[in-house]
Amino acid sequence: MGMLLTCKLGFEDILAREAMMYGADLKAQGKGWVFVEHFDPAQAAELCFGSGILQEPLCVNTTSVNLFVESLTEMFTDHIRPLRISASWPYRFSACENEQLTHRCAAIQRHWLDKIRKKVSRVGKLAREGLPQGPELAQGFFVHLTDFDKAFVAFEAFSQGQKRMAMDAKAPSRSFLKLEEAFCVFAREPRTNDVVVDLGASPGGWSYSALRKGASVIAVDNGPLKEPVKSHPRIRHLKMDAFTYQPYEAKKIDWLLCDLIENPFEILDLLRFWITQRWCHYFVVNLKVGRMDPIPLLRDIHDPKGTFAPHCAQLITRQLYHDREEITVMGEAL
Ligand SMILES: C[S@@+](CC[C@H](N)C(=O)[O-])C[C@H]1O[C@@H](n2cnc3c(N)ncnc32)[C@H](O)[C@@H]1O
Repeated sequence: MGMLLTCKLGFEDILAREAMMYGADLKAQGKGWVFVEHFDPAQAAELCFGSGILQEPLCVNTTSVNLFVESLTEMFTDHIRPLRISASWPYRFSACENEQLTHRCAAIQRHWLDKIRKKVSRVGKLAREGLPQGPELAQGFFVHLTDFDKAFVAFEAFSQGQKRMAMDAKAPSRSFLKLEEAFCVFAREPRTNDVVVDLGASPGGWSYSALRKGASVIAVDNGPLKEPVKSHPRIRHLKMDAFTYQPYEAKKIDWLLCDLIENPFEILDLLRFWITQRWCHYFVVNLKVGRMDPIPLLRDIHDPKGTFAPHCAQLITRQLYHDREEITVMGEAL
């Protein structure tokens, strides 16, 4: 069974190796995409470096926007002919990170939508833009342009949930965006009166996000916090090393947040300690992988006989939209 996996530009080799780690057979790859076979969608939903998954895609090779629109309209109308569509259905047109390709993709999408709204107007009115978050495959129409003359088209797909977040002008740093995105992917976030420990909190973007949701924050960092976090009534700033900090609160900490610039393996050991001591319920941890090979880290995190899987009710690793040479680990500890 063929599957197109999309990723950030430059991460194709890593994504291919990650998919092969789960048993997929690599067939081809290009800028921002990898084509694999014999890959279970449930396993694809575990991928850290994948952003979108197109199931059994067909390849369209043609030269102009008009010819793409014609082919895609024909494929769509052929596909829906035997179906009875009465509910809204998703569609998404995407392209690898290239400004001109993105423009071309937007033009194809616009003309295709106009065309199907004329040809099959009842079904066309039910179209909703977007790719639903996995792990269930969504039925719809999904197009990914990999080059000016090549697109993959699928009727089943899902997204790994990464998305661009809106900046809040009061947030002390742009790191705020990463945590906001992590909460979206995880589909959980701190609630009013939750207790959050933020390791490596300076200048305060992550603490700001938690405070905004009504939580109380213990910010651990030798560096300074910026306003409005610094003098917020629900923040306590501890100027100390995150590796020696221990929570003294009587109850379990609701959220452990960790955004330290330190060796990722040492951060994983720290997280292992927190989880096995049952010090926190939920966690979001950013690992700065830089030029290091992230596959051994992923193996460690997802090893069924390791520490994390048996001690976690949920464990997600993602390269987020706002992550650069980083990955984010989110989970619920038992
Ligand atoms: C990427 S910044 C954190 C940004 C922060 N999450 C935000 O949203 O503004 C990393 C921080 O980790 C802190 N840090 C690095 N190693 C640390 C350690 N061992 N203990 C405490 N803080 C540490 C640094 O001082 C730095 O402020």
